[in-house]
Amino acid sequence: MILTPSLALIITGVLVATLTGRTHSARIYSNSTQKLESFPSPIGGRLSSQTELDLAWADAYEQAWDLVSQMTLLEKVNLTSGTGWEMGPCVGNTGEIPRLNFPSLCLQDGPLGIRFTELNSVFPAGLATGATWNKALMYTRGQALGQEFKAKGINVLLGPSMGPLGRAPEGGRNWEGFGTDPYLQGIGAYETVQGIQDVGVVATAKHFLLNEQEHFRQAAESSGFGYSDPMAYSGNTDGRALREIYAWPFAEAIRAGAGAVMCAYNAVNDTQACENSYLLNHILKDELGFQGYVMSDWLAQRSGVNSVIAGMDMSMPGDGESWADGIPFLAANLTLAALNGSIPLWRIDDMAVRILAAHYLVKQNPRNYTKPNFSSWTLVDNDDLYPGSPSKTPYGLVNQHVDARSSLSRRVTRQIATESMVLVKNQNSYLPLKSVKRMSIIGSAAGPFSLGPNGCENRGCNNGTLATGWGSGSVNYAYLATPFEVINMRAFSEGFGIDYSFDDYDLDSATVLAEASDVAIVFVTSDSGEGFLTVEDNLGDRNDLDLWHNGDELITTVASSNNNTIVVIESVGGVNMEAWIDNENITAVLYALVPGQDIGFGISDVLFGDANPSGRLPFTVARNKSDYPATVEYTMTSRQPQLNFSEGIFIDYRHFDRESIEPRYEFGFGMSYTTFEISNFSVELSSDANTDLEAPLPGNYSNPTLLNSSLPNATDTVYPDDIPRYKKFIYPYLTSSEADGIKYDEDAYPYPSGYNTTQKSVPHPAGGASGGNPALFDYLVNATAQVGNTGNLSGAEVVQLYLSYPDLLNVEFPVKSLRGFEKISLQPNETSTVQFWLTRKDLSYFDVVRDNWVLPRGNFSVYIGNSSRSNALAGRFSID
Ligand code: BGC
Repeated sequence: MILTPSLALIITGVLVATLTGRTHSARIYSNSTQKLESFPSPIGGRLSSQTELDLAWADAYEQAWDLVSQMTLLEKVNLTSGTGWEMGPCVGNTGEIPRLNFPSLCLQDGPLGIRFTELNSVFPAGLATGATWNKALMYTRGQALGQEFKAKGINVLLGPSMGPLGRAPEGGRNWEGFGTDPYLQGIGAYETVQGIQDVGVVATAKHFLLNEQEHFRQAAESSGFGYSDPMAYSGNTDGRALREIYAWPFAEAIRAGAGAVMCAYNAVNDTQACENSYLLNHILKDELGFQGYVMSDWLAQRSGVNSVIAGMDMSMPGDGESWADGIPFLAANLTLAALNGSIPLWRIDDMAVRILAAHYLVKQNPRNYTKPNFSSWTLVDNDDLYPGSPSKTPYGLVNQHVDARSSLSRRVTRQIATESMVLVKNQNSYLPLKSVKRMSIIGSAAGPFSLGPNGCENRGCNNGTLATGWGSGSVNYAYLATPFEVINMRAFSEGFGIDYSFDDYDLDSATVLAEASDVAIVFVTSDSGEGFLTVEDNLGDRNDLDLWHNGDELITTVASSNNNTIVVIESVGGVNMEAWIDNENITAVLYALVPGQDIGFGISDVLFGDANPSGRLPFTVARNKSDYPATVEYTMTSRQPQLNFSEGIFIDYRHFDRESIEPRYEFGFGMSYTTFEISNFSVELSSDANTDLEAPLPGNYSNPTLLNSSLPNATDTVYPDDIPRYKKFIYPYLTSSEADGIKYDEDAYPYPSGYNTTQKSVPHPAGGASGGNPALFDYLVNATAQVGNTGNLSGAEVVQLYLSYPDLLNVEFPVKSLRGFEKISLQPNETSTVQFWLTRKDLSYFDVVRDNWVLPRGNFSVYIGNSSRSNALAGRFSID
């Protein structure tokens, strides 16, 4: 491992920030009955749970203890600390441990494919995947993603994203996740994590927690809003919404075995997420039983000791207060904090063990794993190995141009592109298209971008067809099948006439084309992305829900000249359609929710009837923007914007139902070319169900495994003479003057109140296993229904189960909550039985006073249908 000469001076400066930490003030986690700090950080590997997953974790821990017990302090520190921005091939690179032949770990974005490389797939985004409502496909996509990451030598995939959840419909990164409902998002997360990890790549559940908008998500991006020393916003929520809405999908990811969790940029209830002991120690590692490691989002770490004692395990990309500063909060500072007694050695052991255990859990031995064969920073063959350093660093082969794609990824990207299409209007069954003679294609979103599909970095522009949003969740295209190209080739083979205009503002040409064709297809967009890029004045978050590029006018102009106008919306979320949706000349409307490289195939398949549409909306489309319960906070009225999630659990359809607001298209809605009938319902509480108010307590923690580590002499942590020292590269070593100045004093650090080091022996009552108390996942209720295809075409129905809870005096429930779904493919006249199992957690609410999930008493109603507003009462059951 290697060092920088300038570090000595810098470290002393950083120490002040590191050791003083940041504010830890109180907020509304609960009805003020809970403590807001939680110490110590739970040591991993202590679950007594016997689930298959937890037994696998136990094995992984054995291996991790074995290797970590052979490591020196400096080696453990290196495992926890990134080498700095652009200091290695990947967006995140840990320090290596040459003595043990342990390589630098490669961490790479992102949720829909490999960022910054080539010859990889651009998979459908989370939102498109959620819109398929197809669990098996979600899993296969995870596998295909994992295989591509593995082929490039990536150890850790920085995804899936399950936060933002979509509280605000304009939220810039909502499209990276699976939809605005914790249950749907949870299944997306669960299946994806399993798929990725089953092929041996570690998945990262991100961003924990309340990262619901881009504006002010981090201090560095909040400058220019009137405050000289801005802070990241604080998302403030109550304890119930935190568990039932925002943490729910993370619990599912952990229950699937997620090896890593990324803590968010923003603060949660006034404390930075990455140094929030209540969030990381209490909720994540105790209540959700998380056994893997917490990495910071890139520069989300804002303190040293405070972050470590609060439960953060790895610093990414390793730099400190600002981007590429080369001045770490961990690395040498962690070495120092161990030597001066601020951070106990067991905690550093636990950080290292957790990191290794996650890799062993997925049967990845980094020592024998493919090494990264690409560079995130260039596509040429040879370049600097550490391009972020102002020093001269080694030069060599950085790109081997490995084609990561497989037949599986080809199949999955194509299938999801088709299955995710949501048909929301189809007047008089106009679609699928029959006997077209003259077609016009109108709108820039139908065609290519003049600079090519990768013409804007990180897809930070909206030109041509829109197959993904922008930011770290974007990927380079090896090809992009635009709708125009695919449909044009059809015109060639099927013999219909086709003409087009890609100018969104040339309404005259649009009119001429519309008049001259028997069907006119208008392509429109709405885009968003990550806050580090502003596109057409949208700082990550969308400024509004209107169509971009003159969309409304283009549509109404075409519709006024052609009574078979079809609208294709390529969008990152809900858009306002009120200007034209009821226009009778608009015969069909199709939603394409950022479906990746095969967007053109997906659209064409559905328009021409090669596939029967089976996507369903993973969010509510409102009639008015003001109908939504929350919006992005765009203005900064204090140094630290306070985002009060005062709508609590009532996000998306829960709000529309509660306030009796008629949506334009409800959550779960989507049309088919055939018809289905859902019938023969039955709902039953299992006769042997344990219906106690709270789940039985989980087993106690086993005693912590301590590795008998001892502190080295400070002089042994000094930079070795024979090591190259590159500027800004982040090393674990101290300078000799730092080493000389160290005094060991366990009481010197100004710890937050309540800090202690005594490990709990009893888990949180809702914890005790990965993802939570195993009894929360016991099946209590079984529901079945029959679904039949009553039309003339084969197709797939998404059968959805919604639950209504009993009336309780002091607890308000949503009118309905999604608690099950299955996608069923049926031939004409075929019927099939659908089974749903509801768990104790599905039936419970989180009681902040009891600090646990509680099974309410009274009558429950179960609705089974094909959207959140289809009202077929399937049955009732009661719990006394
Ligand atoms: C994003 C993360 C991403 C990381 C690394 C951050 O800006 O919020 O989602 O994984 O960068 O690129």
